[in-house]
Amino acid sequence: MTEKRLAVVVLAAGEGTRMRSSKPKVMHELAGLPLLGHALATASSLGAAHVVPVIRHQRDHIAEYITTYFPNATIADQDDVPGTGRAVECALQVLPADFDGAVVVTSGDVPLLDVPTLDSLLEAHLTGGFAATVLTQIADDPSGYGRIIRSNDGSFLGIIEHRDATEEQLQIAEVNAGVYVFDSSALRESLGKLSAHNAQGERYLTDIAAMLVRDGAKAQALAVGDNWLVAGINDRVQLSEVAAELNRRICEAWMQAGVTILDPYTTWIDVTVSIGEDAVILPGTYLKGTTVIGAAATIGPEVDMTDTVVDAGAKVLKSHVSSSRIGEGASVGPYAYLRPGTDLGQDGKIGTFVETKNAVIGRGSKVPHLSYVGDAVIGEESNIGAGTIFANYDGVNKHKSVIGSHVRTGSHNTFVAPITIGDGAYTAAGTTVRKNVEAGEMALSHAPQRNFAGWVIANRPGTAAAQAAENAKE
Ligand code: UD1
Ligand code: CA
Repeated sequence: MTEKRLAVVVLAAGEGTRMRSSKPKVMHELAGLPLLGHALATASSLGAAHVVPVIRHQRDHIAEYITTYFPNATIADQDDVPGTGRAVECALQVLPADFDGAVVVTSGDVPLLDVPTLDSLLEAHLTGGFAATVLTQIADDPSGYGRIIRSNDGSFLGIIEHRDATEEQLQIAEVNAGVYVFDSSALRESLGKLSAHNAQGERYLTDIAAMLVRDGAKAQALAVGDNWLVAGINDRVQLSEVAAELNRRICEAWMQAGVTILDPYTTWIDVTVSIGEDAVILPGTYLKGTTVIGAAATIGPEVDMTDTVVDAGAKVLKSHVSSSRIGEGASVGPYAYLRPGTDLGQDGKIGTFVETKNAVIGRGSKVPHLSYVGDAVIGEESNIGAGTIFANYDGVNKHKSVIGSHVRTGSHNTFVAPITIGDGAYTAAGTTVRKNVEAGEMALSHAPQRNFAGWVIANRPGTAAAQAAENAKE
């Protein structure tokens, strides 16, 4: 779409009371973006000269989101006069005074509306020289929606809101989807004539259609092919229904692109995620944020991953991972917790019950069992023994540990940072490493062990252990 004489208005000033939330309705999330983010992403992809979100309820919260993620949008503030008609009027006020062209109106609470639907609506509007084009849907349950009124020959006459409709009009199944295209001058003129003589005492945008038809202008109403595209969200039940449908579509698109998804019903993928060919996503997996999965990687079952890059052929099993990178062919889990700043090299391993944070682990290096690695850099092909703790925190500050390449550390070590271990060094089991270890050295710290003969029989008489000790004597 290269039409520049185009403005897109996104209505988001309503209160959204049915969410029963301290958070504005349009900031509730779906597949990794707030509802408004979905609407603005679509609006921003139409090639319009102006994208105008209209806000009022919890204005500052929403405005901050818009200026951060959609800096090219022009925010319009709706005043105290209620109604969708007033909202559009407020939007027109922030457009250049001489703006002349098409005005698309959508809603911040209709997240699945896509660019092809708007493009074809716009095309039908422009090629037919219409003053107004309204998108409609044939609803299974039309209650709550504005009904589409047509003459006997089917031509579009206007929209009646549910609360203002007669018994007979309430039987109409074709309803207003809340998506429109207007000619800007026709829109300006008719907005000026709107009244609030209706059940809700609001200035309805929907009244404009009948007004234009009465004035002899061309208006049309076109039904959408796929009702999900115009599904609006008013409460949390609808939020979960639309979330499930969007997720189903996201999974289907990745399957069509060559990704194996064993169970799309328990696999949740944000719209912002990307996945390479022949990757396998197993049940109970959440891929969130800016996560990128490489070709032929295997993720899951039961992985919760956010803002993470996984390179080709890596495997991640039953783990929680955020803001990390996992190198080609590396393996993670089961039961690993990778916190921000974890960078696992090619063919590396982070194994079972291992927690990492700000940890750069080089190519081929392994942290296989029961360890905490924080604020550390580990070279290549090193092995960290089971049960190792990088003691990075002195209670006030964090300190760094540097482990070289081809290092072998013993089981149950504590590295008291700041500390450096040279290439090829060894440390013995149970060592608390408080002094730097040079390349090729073996570090051993131990307290001498003493055994007290007969202690159990003397001090724990009558126990199973004492009995076992007696039996062992015979
Ligand atoms: C609206 C339509 C109805 C249609 C339905 C489709 C009107 C009068 N009715 O009804 O015909 O079937 O959408 O979902 O337009 N908003 C503002 N300012 C306001 C009031 C609302 O910006 O003063 C915004 C809301 O934030 C929302 C959108 O406009 O994004 C629609 O408002 P809502 O109250 O949900 O209208 P409906 O009753 O659903
Ligand atoms: Ca609505």
